Amino acid sequence: MEIIETPKEMQRISTLLQASGKTIGFVPTMGYLHEGHEKLLEAARKENEIVVLSIFVNPLQFGPNEDLDRYPRDEAHDRKVALKHKVDYLFFPHAEAMYPGPSSIELTVKRRADVLCGRSRQGHFDGVVTVLSKLFNLCRPSKTYFGLKDAQQVAVVDALIEDFNFPVELVPVPTVREADGLAKSSRNVYLSEQERKEAPFIYQSLLHGKELALQGASREQVVSEVQAFIEERTHGRIDYIEFLSYPDLQQLDKPKGQMILATAVFFEKARLIDNILIDM
Ligand code: PAJ
Repeated sequence: MEIIETPKEMQRISTLLQASGKTIGFVPTMGYLHEGHEKLLEAARKENEIVVLSIFVNPLQFGPNEDLDRYPRDEAHDRKVALKHKVDYLFFPHAEAMYPGPSSIELTVKRRADVLCGRSRQGHFDGVVTVLSKLFNLCRPSKTYFGLKDAQQVAVVDALIEDFNFPVELVPVPTVREADGLAKSSRNVYLSEQERKEAPFIYQSLLHGKELALQGASREQVVSEVQAFIEERTHGRIDYIEFLSYPDLQQLDKPKGQMILATAVFFEKARLIDNILIDM
């Protein structure tokens, strides 16, 4: 495995690989790798000749009151995980190399970002599509792997690739969960013991909502039942619960086709998100 620190070197290598006809599978992450990330690496390893993993905590996608400064990091662990999954290139750029000065051009996400996390994290997806545009240009992937844990991110990246004609195939990967259903997340380490016990109820609330939706409950009924389920069983503060079409993320009067039921819940030191897709 080769570790690459500069954007220039990453682009030089990916250009050579592409010219030699190699398929490149690309997994973008912010590090502190867990089994969710590993699932993406496994899929990339299976389907491509070359695997590129990027680890970059992108300052552009964090709001002023978010956890950029205390985002968990463990480079040694991440390197081991990358080796275990036979990553060929680990791209580990510094923020100053990715953003050497104030940018002249900013990307703005106009659709699919005014709901769910996009609404409560203003500018977050603008930062995500900006860094991904750069990373796609630097790593030149044939396929890129994203987790459905962040289903809105998948929907936004799908639009980015479509709108800007990036020559890359988006591969969505199902959410990896703990045995008790809690979605794996780098932020789970911030849960207190009590919160860790309560957190699995988030997924259970979504399963409950799914059942109701499939039985024909209205959007309002599904949302209010999920809300009651979480409030009765956890001390978390609900940021949002939404039931939308997927991947368009529109509010439908009558749920039909592929839908997403998603929630975000604030605990003391972590905001947890989870979702399920429902075929109606
Ligand atoms: P990060 O939060 O590190 O996540 C990297 C990838 O891992 C994302 O595609 C995410 O959906 C996936 N992932 C995280 N937890 C998962 C789980 N439990 N099951 C399946 N996949 C999971 O998402 C980002 O980084 C950034 O926004 C990034 C795309 C790197 C842009 O900066």
